Amino acid sequence: MSSKKITDIKGRMVFDSRGYPTVESEVQVDNNFYGTSISPSGASKGKKEALEKRDNDENIFLGNSINENIFIINNQIKDTLVGVNIEDQVLIDKKLIELDGTNNKSKIGANTTITVSMASLKAAAAVNKTSVWEYLNNSSEKKLPLPEIQIIGGGAHAKGSIPIQDFMIIPNGAPDFNTALHWVFKIYKLAGEKLYSQNKLYGVADEGGYWPHFNDITSVLDFLVKVIEDAGFEPYRQVSLSLDIAANNFKFNKKYKMSNKKNILFSSNDLYDYLLKLIKSYPIISIEDPFAEEDIDYFKKLKESSPSYLQVVGDDLVVTNTKLIKNAYNKNAINTILVKPNQIGTVTETSNALKLSNELNLMSILSARSGESEDNFISDLSVGWKMKQLKVGSFSRSERMSKWNQCLRIGEKFKDKYAMHKIWNF
Ligand code: PGA
Ligand code: ZN
Repeated sequence: MSSKKITDIKGRMVFDSRGYPTVESEVQVDNNFYGTSISPSGASKGKKEALEKRDNDENIFLGNSINENIFIINNQIKDTLVGVNIEDQVLIDKKLIELDGTNNKSKIGANTTITVSMASLKAAAAVNKTSVWEYLNNSSEKKLPLPEIQIIGGGAHAKGSIPIQDFMIIPNGAPDFNTALHWVFKIYKLAGEKLYSQNKLYGVADEGGYWPHFNDITSVLDFLVKVIEDAGFEPYRQVSLSLDIAANNFKFNKKYKMSNKKNILFSSNDLYDYLLKLIKSYPIISIEDPFAEEDIDYFKKLKESSPSYLQVVGDDLVVTNTKLIKNAYNKNAINTILVKPNQIGTVTETSNALKLSNELNLMSILSARSGESEDNFISDLSVGWKMKQLKVGSFSRSERMSKWNQCLRIGEKFKDKYAMHKIWNF
């Protein structure tokens, strides 16, 4: 009989989709089964996220090398975890948390712990000769998440060209995942053709969405609504808009800088008025981090004055952290959380954040980062954890497509092929 004990752990440096060094871990069980996982990396981070540890030596990879992380995996983490039962994810993560000993993973780095934690889960599935999603979800309810897909990128992902970070679509009326991606394909391609023919296209931003030239936010929204309609879809009923304002990134000295070119500065109240107007004028059904995290009272104000179909999503506000989620819930600031495993640093803590959001009746969206890789673990996790929504960027670049493609492989195996969660009924 084969043993389920961890027999070796290795760390190595690989590169992410922006070409920066990142951590990969390989967890071996019974000298025979492996799980390998790569840490993603954010560009617009919440102030209270767990720490992404770097060597900070300006002479190597502009300060971004991760040699110490690799050393920690190959020594302390290996010494701590060899011999542990691979199916005991809670114990594996507990040992990682204890080894770090800080409340934000600042000693060994969340980019170190998350790779070992995710690789361990993959190895546990391998030992059981199954996939991660099947290992986690043995119920009869198997559905793919509703995708949220970036069409235009801005903010920190496009050198601040437009302050808002993600202009996304949600194919909320699609009957299944396959059809949803077909609708997305039509809209993404048409948007690209139109931008090119209008001389507005600079290229693509960090998550594969177009990086266009627009003077203001409403021109982008007008453009997107026209693309949705010209592609043959009805806003609200079939395809709607979703924005990640990522407002942390354009607040300076208590003011929101609304343009890169002109000196337009908004107070929190000005931004509130402006966003509320957008929500009432465009088919926006989800809005993420509408204010910087210290403006939590404005989240509440916006949520209370918005239509009930609107998702008010906390990403940088709650950073997959149960304490912050509870606080935001108590203040009635959000009705949805974004879930990013590397914001907190282990699979178990991510799962705890998700459990709490379910208990509190909050909606949740599983999300990748702007720095990604070929690792498509998150797609397995979305079905394994019965997530209703998934956000992994746009519809180009392989670090994004690998996630959508894995969803297709998973959905092919369902009895009800490509079945997808339905959330909005307009
Ligand atoms: P990040 O942003 O991965 O660059 O932090 C993604 C998001 O805000 O959702
Ligand atoms: Zn965000």
